[in-house]
Amino acid sequence: MTAREKPKTLWVGRWGFILAATGSAVGLGNIWKFPYMTGEYGGGAFVLVYLACILAIGIPIMMAEISFGRRGRGSPIDAIRRLAQESGRSALWSLFGWMAMLCGFMILSFYVVVAGWSVAYLWKAVSGGLSGSSVEEMAAIFGANNANPWSLGFWSTLVTLATMLIVGKGVQEGIEKSVRWMMPGMVLILGIMIVYGVFSGGFGEAMSFLFAFELGNLSSEGLLAAMGQAFFTLSLASGAILTYGSYLPDDKSIARTTFSVALFDTLVALMAGLAIFPVIFASGMDPDSGPGLIFMSLPLAFQQMPLGTLLEIAFFFMLTLAALTSAISMIEATVAWLNQSRGVSRAKASWGTGILLWIVSTLAMLSFNVGADWTLAGKHFFDWLDYLTSRWMMPLGGLGMALMAGFVLRNEIFRSELGLSRTQHALWLFMVRYVSPLGILLIFIDALGVMAL
Ligand code: PFF
Ligand code: NA
Repeated sequence: MTAREKPKTLWVGRWGFILAATGSAVGLGNIWKFPYMTGEYGGGAFVLVYLACILAIGIPIMMAEISFGRRGRGSPIDAIRRLAQESGRSALWSLFGWMAMLCGFMILSFYVVVAGWSVAYLWKAVSGGLSGSSVEEMAAIFGANNANPWSLGFWSTLVTLATMLIVGKGVQEGIEKSVRWMMPGMVLILGIMIVYGVFSGGFGEAMSFLFAFELGNLSSEGLLAAMGQAFFTLSLASGAILTYGSYLPDDKSIARTTFSVALFDTLVALMAGLAIFPVIFASGMDPDSGPGLIFMSLPLAFQQMPLGTLLEIAFFFMLTLAALTSAISMIEATVAWLNQSRGVSRAKASWGTGILLWIVSTLAMLSFNVGADWTLAGKHFFDWLDYLTSRWMMPLGGLGMALMAGFVLRNEIFRSELGLSRTQHALWLFMVRYVSPLGILLIFIDALGVMAL
């Protein structure tokens, strides 16, 4: 007997898949990345393009990916190959499955480093290491946290271990249970911080920063970044959603699930922005402060809030959990593939990928200290992992998914998987055939044009 498992419906209960997919979507992308990218690219116009990309590109492609998974019942590689065969098309389309799997692994390699920051800050919050009364002091704490490769490596190693342990066990039920209370908890804390922001000044400025726009202000690079962020935040084209879809029972509505995941994900990102930017403006911090933005601004606010330390502990605890529920989804495709088509047991598959992950993530972690000078074209390794995946691999993978759904695979597959009305189906088809691919291509061409100058 091999340890090969038949892909089966793993999600228990009515909410199983929604909770798992929400757990995958909501994570560091919403609370860490969205605010700092918005700050970096100047606010409103970036947010607007991001929202447009969620609607016109993200949602239609997410529906396609879940359909691929459920109909193909397997990892991205196997599922796409099966669907291509069923449609009489070349098995080469499964190259998009390979790319998605690689992409999920690359994202995870830098994601565990950031999740490690979150655990480190949880520890600091518990042990009283986050006191400081100015942005400079908080920046110094963030800098010191990154400067020591041993402690930083300790935290990212811890996250890597936790991720692989959960994936190895396949404890879906545990994930579903933790997502069930973590998400409302996260929304509650962000809500409290927004209210705090309203009373502490800086809220008006934050509102106009986030929602007032001058489209001309967005550079081609910002456009590409906004599209990449839409893919990243919805966990698209990285194997996660497709593989989770392969465990989805037949009677669940893919469209309804997609809309609720996308809506909730967007809500959390916007709430994070509204919680963070008032603090940034009130404290005179530069919105363009990069990846350390939330780690330098939020502790400052917690310092001044009633019950601040308690809130701070709860916040970093939930951020860590949110990061973990996303992290496990990034590696699920690889583990599912090794298990289902290579006959490796889940435990062995997790340990094997875990060791590789540990090596690559340690190299990414070193970008913040001893490897700070190991740069190529001005970017260190951590930045390259993020840049390549978000700006290029995910949109390119998404383009492939959209074209497969729109033109390559038999349309009957999607008729039966999506089960939409005639008009709704026609609208979805129009999106995956024309709107999403052209949107992606235009933004690509625009970005390449700038690079050629
Ligand atoms: N959607 C996650 C977030 O916003 O934090 C990140 C992510 C998860 C990206 C899973 C890709 C993925 F496959
Ligand atoms: Na997200």
